[in-house]
Amino acid sequence: MSDQAKKYYITTPIYYPSGKWHLGTCYTTVVCDALARFKRKEGYDVFYLTGTDEHGQKIEKTAESKGMQPKEFLDKQVGALIDLWKLLGISYDKFIRTTDEYHKKAVAKIFQKLYDQGDIYKSSYEGWYCTPCESFWTKSQLVDGKCPDCGREVELTKEESYFFRLSKYQDRLIDLIENHPDFLLPKSRQNEMLNNFLRPGLQDLCVSRSSFRWGIPVPFDPQHVVYVWIDALTNYITALGYGSEDDSLFRKYWPADLHMMGKEIVRFHSIIWPALLMALDIPLPKEVYGHGWLLLGSEKISKSKGNIVDPFELSARYSVDAVRYFLLREVPFGSDGMYTNRAFLTRINTDLCNSLGNLLSRTTAMVNQYFGGVLPAPDVKEAVDDELTSMIDGLFDRVRDNMDKLLVPEALHEIWTVIGRANKYIDETTPWILAKDPAKQGRLATVLYNLSEALRVSAVLLSAFLIETPAKILSCFGLEAPARFGDGVRYGKLKGGETVLKAGKLYERIDIEKELIAMEKRAEELAAESAKKEEQVPETPKKATIQYDDFAKLDLKVGKIVAAEPVKRSEKLLKFTVEIGAERRTIVSGIAKYYKPEETIGKLVSVVTNLAPVKLCGVVSEGMLMCASDADGKVVLLAPEAEVASGSEIS
Ligand code: ME8
Ligand code: MG
Repeated sequence: MSDQAKKYYITTPIYYPSGKWHLGTCYTTVVCDALARFKRKEGYDVFYLTGTDEHGQKIEKTAESKGMQPKEFLDKQVGALIDLWKLLGISYDKFIRTTDEYHKKAVAKIFQKLYDQGDIYKSSYEGWYCTPCESFWTKSQLVDGKCPDCGREVELTKEESYFFRLSKYQDRLIDLIENHPDFLLPKSRQNEMLNNFLRPGLQDLCVSRSSFRWGIPVPFDPQHVVYVWIDALTNYITALGYGSEDDSLFRKYWPADLHMMGKEIVRFHSIIWPALLMALDIPLPKEVYGHGWLLLGSEKISKSKGNIVDPFELSARYSVDAVRYFLLREVPFGSDGMYTNRAFLTRINTDLCNSLGNLLSRTTAMVNQYFGGVLPAPDVKEAVDDELTSMIDGLFDRVRDNMDKLLVPEALHEIWTVIGRANKYIDETTPWILAKDPAKQGRLATVLYNLSEALRVSAVLLSAFLIETPAKILSCFGLEAPARFGDGVRYGKLKGGETVLKAGKLYERIDIEKELIAMEKRAEELAAESAKKEEQVPETPKKATIQYDDFAKLDLKVGKIVAAEPVKRSEKLLKFTVEIGAERRTIVSGIAKYYKPEETIGKLVSVVTNLAPVKLCGVVSEGMLMCASDADGKVVLLAPEAEVASGSEIS
């Protein structure tokens, strides 16, 4: 490497802080962290960027459903994400939030520039609009011709919008993918982009919205907010100061060496992002990589499904390194991988406890037993040593080659090959027999020295992947994890004479069958806890005087309960089917303590019908039953004073 360290700019996508953080969330970040740490230790000047994608209707709605302001909700969510990254030891250099002022300013500038130069123009956007959800859908997104979110009627509507001339860049984009085979990887994604999107022809892209407010206003038309593409993708340059007074980081680190992301957003990064950069006359990133998904059973782990695997829980119970190791090792890079409790526990037992843990405890115990805890210098050599020592010496090169190709599990596999070879070497050389023969002390010295070197070099390399484990191993030899690999990755750095401490247990062996039962029980407890939290209806603040217009926004109608049942895992909630004129709706209400489901059937009730739908304990509630509650906490349903047809207007 030359005097001036080569730079390496690596990014994760910015995360949507809309729901609970789960194990899948950690995948991109942990992988990038290993790559960033590895490059730093190789001597690169690394800039590792991550952050959060905080605008849009979904955030606005989720905050609202929790009775919070968007920013208040976001601060809580982002705080939890930063805690998670701290826990997992994510070594990012910058965390960008798209609600940061410098980002908002830079996005407004970028939008203005693209508009001024004719790359953005105003037109109208036709789509199917769901009024209660305030959402536009394309025809193909509709489910049975109705809103895919709430199942209600949609209307064909036109909305004025700004468009980015994506189609103008089609030929350059095709050229980019076809003639720059290192730009988009793995290779399978190239054909996907070419065949599914680029060759069939690109359409201009809608880059503004006027149907919600939670976004960066379009500078010259503040009725509109900038829609996700220009707001989110530009984070990769605004984080470096592009569009601000100080763009020195941008000049230093751009273009990105690697944008890493899940395969579902490769299209945005390999088509829309380069087109925006072309329009801005900014060099393109060197590489875009779309990794696979971490699946649970056969489902992608995601915020919107119930199958959440909690990374805080797993780390607390089994260690951060166990979680990092599983993520880095189990998912074949570029393809999907599967999380199961059994696979996770098996990795801990087999790789961390048996292979690595045993090598450490056997080696350090023998140095203590046979040499009083002082490492002997190598002495008498035999042919059987060569395979192990040359494997140790070449390990760094093999790991680096894999890391350069982003083959992270393969890089770890190389390290475990050496660990496995070292364990086998113990069986081949039988140090406990050598120890009994005074004439074999020189041979015993070499064996224990080589084993120590296998551990040391493995731990030095592992310090790019794991946090505590390599430090524990190295501390037995009086060493620390190095900031740079340097020549510490070669065979022969230990000199002999070093004090070697007898290692404690690196990992406890797990009784897998017993543990699986405990894990299931814990998962149920967690699900029940989060269901309880979800059912807590936000407190209503003191209310100000309103005008008639505000009151008139409420659509209040008489309904008739036609079915009622308890909501699973909830002590408070009942699920009602309510007839409102010709329509039937599902409405969830927190009155399980006050009414038995069967005694409510046939009752007339007062319904707020135009309340935005909200999910309570997994059930979408489409409206609210009005109740009266007194100071003693008694709750009764509000009903009309006399029999009246369901569907009647309340005013
Ligand atoms: O897409 N397995 O954010 P996001 C593997 N805000 N990776 C997973 C995963 C899983 N089960 N679940 C999520 C967004 N991820 C946008 C990006 S960038 C300008 C805007 C990964 O929170 C996902 O693939 O939905 C992505 O790389 C990252 O988590 C953030 O996803
Ligand atoms: Mg996503």
